Amino acid sequence: MGKSQRTFVKAFAPATVANVGCGFDVLGFAIHGPGDSVSATLSDKAGVRIVSITGEDGKLPYETEKNTAGLSVLSLLKKAGKEHIGIELRIEKKMPLGSGLGSSAASSAAAVAAVNHLLGEPFSQMELLPFAVEGELAASGTPHADNVAAALLGGFVLVKEHNPPDVIPLPSPPELYCVVIHPHIEIQTRRSRQILKKEVLLEKAIRQWANMGALVAGLFREDYSLIGRSLHDEIIEPVRSVMIPGFQGMKKGAMEAGALGCSISGSGPSLFALTRGESDAHRAGEKMGDVLKEIGLEFDLHLSEINRKGAVIEEER
Ligand code: HSE
Repeated sequence: MGKSQRTFVKAFAPATVANVGCGFDVLGFAIHGPGDSVSATLSDKAGVRIVSITGEDGKLPYETEKNTAGLSVLSLLKKAGKEHIGIELRIEKKMPLGSGLGSSAASSAAAVAAVNHLLGEPFSQMELLPFAVEGELAASGTPHADNVAAALLGGFVLVKEHNPPDVIPLPSPPELYCVVIHPHIEIQTRRSRQILKKEVLLEKAIRQWANMGALVAGLFREDYSLIGRSLHDEIIEPVRSVMIPGFQGMKKGAMEAGALGCSISGSGPSLFALTRGESDAHRAGEKMGDVLKEIGLEFDLHLSEINRKGAVIEEER
């Protein structure tokens, strides 16, 4: 295990789009713009303490064992055999909770990236995954790694298994652009998972895994048309979309504006659309925004290339 003289590290992890249409719980990608920062400071007092949470203050627990970032760090320290050390965590939420943009995953990923660097990098970025998944478990009630894998590693990821991690980084075609619209309502991932049907018709499963395989092939081949033809979700979207006001109109608007595909980002309420090039992303964003303006719902728009960096160290001393 490497030695480190650092006493302070601040890391940033980006917002992520999980599922990517047909890849429920197994596909994700990272975007630029929103995300969370977490700083870790060594302390003489043993234990992990959350000393500040800015951004969504009041909504998140300060108890380490109940906080996604805190839990992830506890799990990391246990595996590293460093439970005796003292760490203070400061969490800067720079994206809203319950938005479908992987808010809890960004906190967990930034927290484990910061503490790992503070300890002299005993773990690779990939090895941090199970720790961050512990945090997701607390947030959603079931372990899933599509957001945390993308937040840690950046780019597109395919989560074959989360523990032990078997995550396959996928290529991000250079002209691929993404627009995300976040209507200002909150949907809890836990709730959004509870409403899903536990059984799937075989004929739907067949189309879903055909689309999933074809989407991955499209990414490898930089085949934008194939990406578009594959970005369909026959299983999850029909159930969850009813919770999102204006969903059908926004999707229609994005597709008319030239998007390759459009679906729910993670567990919603955000929607994402993938486009070939930035101008179609602008047009798709405008059309989607028009639908929400019409129904009087406020929103944020994020236009972004695929974020290939994932979690990064912002500051250290
Ligand atoms: N794959 C997860 C879900 C992501 O859709 O429930 C949650 O953000």
